[in-house]
Amino acid sequence: MSGSWLNDDPDTLQDQNTEEVFGMDRWTDRVALVTGASEGIGADVARRLHAEGMRVVGCARRVDRLQRLRDRLGGRFHPIACDLRDEASILRMFAEIDVLWGSVSVLVNNAGLGHNASLLSGATEHWREMLDVNVLALAVCTREATTRMLQRGRGGHVIHISSMSAHRVPPNSGMYAASKHAVRALTEALRMELHERGAGIRVTSISPGFVETGFARQYHKSEAQARETYSRYEVLQPEDVSEAVIYALASPQRSQIHDILLRPTQQPL
Ligand SMILES: NC(=O)c1ccc[n+]([C@@H]2O[C@H](COP(=O)([O-])OP(=O)(O)OC[C@H]3O[C@@H](n4cnc5c(N)ncnc54)[C@H](OP(=O)(O)O)[C@@H]3O)[C@@H](O)[C@H]2O)c1
Repeated sequence: MSGSWLNDDPDTLQDQNTEEVFGMDRWTDRVALVTGASEGIGADVARRLHAEGMRVVGCARRVDRLQRLRDRLGGRFHPIACDLRDEASILRMFAEIDVLWGSVSVLVNNAGLGHNASLLSGATEHWREMLDVNVLALAVCTREATTRMLQRGRGGHVIHISSMSAHRVPPNSGMYAASKHAVRALTEALRMELHERGAGIRVTSISPGFVETGFARQYHKSEAQARETYSRYEVLQPEDVSEAVIYALASPQRSQIHDILLRPTQQPL
């Protein structure tokens, strides 16, 4: 394996000497941060990375749900209360991880939300929350994680949970689609910046269609409409997205998965 990102850190030398360590084995005992781990896709990605042998930090506002996940998973899962709309809260979280476990090797920028807020009549507050969480928090977490990855010199992987709405614009979802189109631009821009640094840090977007989570309940503010959304046809389950995360993480270092478009088979748009 060649590459300027290797240094004399004993951990790095171990990576260098074990070219055959592919798959998830290379991540064993390393630290993953999953944002929005209290429900839905994030909770399942945290569970799966933990099952694969990683130490996992899960953050969200509903820390009671994170505590329940910790009760299920055990000591290699660490919950942190964090409101991603607040930069100080994000910085405190990274400082806590530094003290607890050191550098983050895998960042899964999963937290996100949609509001049913059209461009003609949507509330500014709803637009702002989507942009704050889906775009700005993702960029702040990425900066904090990659700064540490670069300092440590052991490579790393940043995964953005984007959306099919990064690739087309569904009716009445202009601001949500704008936020996910921004994630698509940020993915490519980050790839180029990291490439310049020759740091061996990979970037992947995963763009799901409908997944059965708390998303539709939050979007429509209605349990009934959420149920209707997920019963039109067989939608994806969070495990389907976790599988895509593992595929990207486990691929050989020479291979960078840029974007996985993952629709339910029956989803028309
Ligand atoms: N479900 C779908 O159909 C679908 C399709 C395409 C893309 N996605 C994307 O998938 C990602 C995960 O969504 P999901 O479907 O799993 O939705 P979900 O079940 O509603 O989960 C959203 C997660 O984001 C967290 N979150 C929201 N605002 C936050 C904040 N201010 N600070 C910290 N955490 C916050 C929530 O935690 P707390 O509320 O506890 O803070 C929760 O853990 C999102 O980026 C979404 O855009 C979902």
